[in-house]
Amino acid sequence: MTRTDDKTGPNHVAVIMDGNGRWAQQRGRPRLFGHHAGARRVREIVRACPDEGVKYLTIFAFSTENWKRTQTEVSGLMALFRRYIMREAKALFDEGVRVRFIGDRIKLDDKLVRLMDNLEMFTADNDKVHLTIALNYGGRDEVTRAAQRLAFEVEQGRLSYKDVDAETLSKFLDTRFLPDPDLVIRTSGEARISNFLLWQSAYAEYEFIDTLWPDFTKDVFAQVLSGYGKRERRFGAVLA
Ligand code: IPE
Ligand code: IPE
Ligand code: MG
Repeated sequence: MTRTDDKTGPNHVAVIMDGNGRWAQQRGRPRLFGHHAGARRVREIVRACPDEGVKYLTIFAFSTENWKRTQTEVSGLMALFRRYIMREAKALFDEGVRVRFIGDRIKLDDKLVRLMDNLEMFTADNDKVHLTIALNYGGRDEVTRAAQRLAFEVEQGRLSYKDVDAETLSKFLDTRFLPDPDLVIRTSGEARISNFLLWQSAYAEYEFIDTLWPDFTKDVFAQVLSGYGKRERRFGAVLA
């Protein structure tokens, strides 16, 4: 089913890719096995976006809280991210995908950060799909870092405290180049947002589905999107 001409489809979809660990556990395998299976799904979902009329896809890959996991899992995930970028860069470029990262890079290792920077530069002129990967991302951390940079501008006399409004603050967020998400999907049955896009999702629709991320096929994606068009978004107003 193509939704390209369907104006009611979401322009920006954000996904909390959850359930990799349980998916592996169900198969008696280590958690990293689930993360690898999850990474393979990303390509399928990115590829499905043009047909579904989704221009912006933002995915939660690693949260500021995920450092609390075992060292084996954390270093396995970091190696997976490096490998993912190296392996997927060409295909992403060829498919017209522009890739950007949000989150704090300071805690990530230099090699990974270099790969991230390179992929951003390499795909900078693409415009078919905008893929944003949240890596060491937390909503509170992002707003805190934005507030810090804003305070610095005020301290330097380049900005007056009177100019601090929602629009100005937005410009200091990692997501400054993104429209707000229209739809946030979380897989694996948990109905919480776990610090994802707190500011940006003020008026987003939410879909919590039971499917574990490694089982999230493009057909499941299409099914979730088809439910979105039936909703009435009011943004606080009373619609006639
Ligand atoms: C989501 O899957 C991926 C990351 C957080 C990196 P989980 O690893 O959280 O999987 P579950 O929730 O334990 O099943
Ligand atoms: C959210 O999933 C983070 C990512 C999907 C990267 P978690 O599995 O870390 O969230 P909690 O711990 O269940 O809230
Ligand atoms: Mg989880």
